[in-house]
Amino acid sequence: MSAGKQIRVGIIGCGVIAPCHIGSYLKLPGVKVVHLCDKVISKAEKLAAEHGIEKVSQDYRKLLADPEVDAVSVCTDHASHSQIAIDALEAGKHVICEKSLASSKEKLDAMLAAARRHPELVFSGVFQHRFDAGYNYVRSIVSDGVFGRMLTANLNVLCLRTNEYYNADAWRGTWAEEGGALLINQAIHFIDMIAWLVGGVESVSACYANLNHQGVIECEDTAAAAVVYRNGALGTISATSASPITWEPTISFNGTAGSMDIRNGELLRIDLKDKDLEEKIRSGFRNIKEEGELLIKSKDYYGSGHPQQLNNFIQAIRGEASLKVPVESAAHAPDIVLSIYESFNTGKRVRITH
Ligand SMILES: NC(=O)c1ccc[n+]([C@@H]2O[C@H](COP(=O)([O-])OP(=O)(O)OC[C@H]3O[C@@H](n4cnc5c(N)ncnc54)[C@H](O)[C@@H]3O)[C@@H](O)[C@H]2O)c1
Repeated sequence: MSAGKQIRVGIIGCGVIAPCHIGSYLKLPGVKVVHLCDKVISKAEKLAAEHGIEKVSQDYRKLLADPEVDAVSVCTDHASHSQIAIDALEAGKHVICEKSLASSKEKLDAMLAAARRHPELVFSGVFQHRFDAGYNYVRSIVSDGVFGRMLTANLNVLCLRTNEYYNADAWRGTWAEEGGALLINQAIHFIDMIAWLVGGVESVSACYANLNHQGVIECEDTAAAAVVYRNGALGTISATSASPITWEPTISFNGTAGSMDIRNGELLRIDLKDKDLEEKIRSGFRNIKEEGELLIKSKDYYGSGHPQQLNNFIQAIRGEASLKVPVESAAHAPDIVLSIYESFNTGKRVRITH
């Protein structure tokens, strides 16, 4: 696709996250949202009316047969992602699929096989925090080796999902449609993040439980895992959606040259052997925070990484930028999550394949 050519987008699934995709696309020059789809047609019609979008469909295959659609955002429940994304590729559409790419390893494998059959198409998975300035800064200092030899890298996710949240949509908290609960929906953002920062997970040994949502969901609200990273470092993942704290991911790195804790992408604590380097990093975080606050004040800021990720998706379609979250990379976190379930279910350490 040539530079600057108009890209026409279809959205499949018109629930909570769809307006964020539409709003992000509408900010991009030369991008038009032309077709919406939801199996509950009134949801597609309502969103279409709000944004002046002419075409709506109840069956996603009708949207995929629309020759005016160049690219699709898949914004449905987790279990349906795989088939919809595969059908979209087979129909010749570029695809960006919401997290979690899939609800089972079989479905994940099928998506990656379809991606290999269609190298001519752009296929991305949403992990919008990979576009956050703070996390990009952390990634650069980790890869510069400021912690020396990485010894441990730990993630703790505290969040709150109420009974009302789960009762509002039948697919949430079910093995069949969500593929899990806390890990596959909420913690997955930061499981992706810590794996991306450290350079990938080799294996997990894990456990999970439903401690505070009994009778509401069939899957887990709390989980813990021992992690071996590909670089040889060890670590832990702990997470719960039964905390009174609504959203608080904390990532800690401990190495032979020092350690650091970050919370919500901001510096919480740093202690390096090299105090000049420590001060340089503190100042790096201060600059990012000031720039972020300026961005929030500007009227263009949309409030999350979605605008940046969807911009990158469109630029990759036009051949103007390389894709920052290719599907192969977006498959790593779902593979870790599904391996955590498998580890507890089988009592074995599970190796991550993607
Ligand atoms: N990246 C993020 O920060 C973020 C935030 C929220 C949700 N999400 C993800 O977005 C996806 C959707 O979540 P949501 O909260 O919007 O859910 P939702 O239930 O509000 O919306 C999903 C919509 O998809 C429709 N749908 C399901 N199967 C369909 C099919 N086969 N054809 C057409 N429509 C179909 C449903 O009717 C529903 O309207 C999930 O993967 C979720 O994890 C991501």
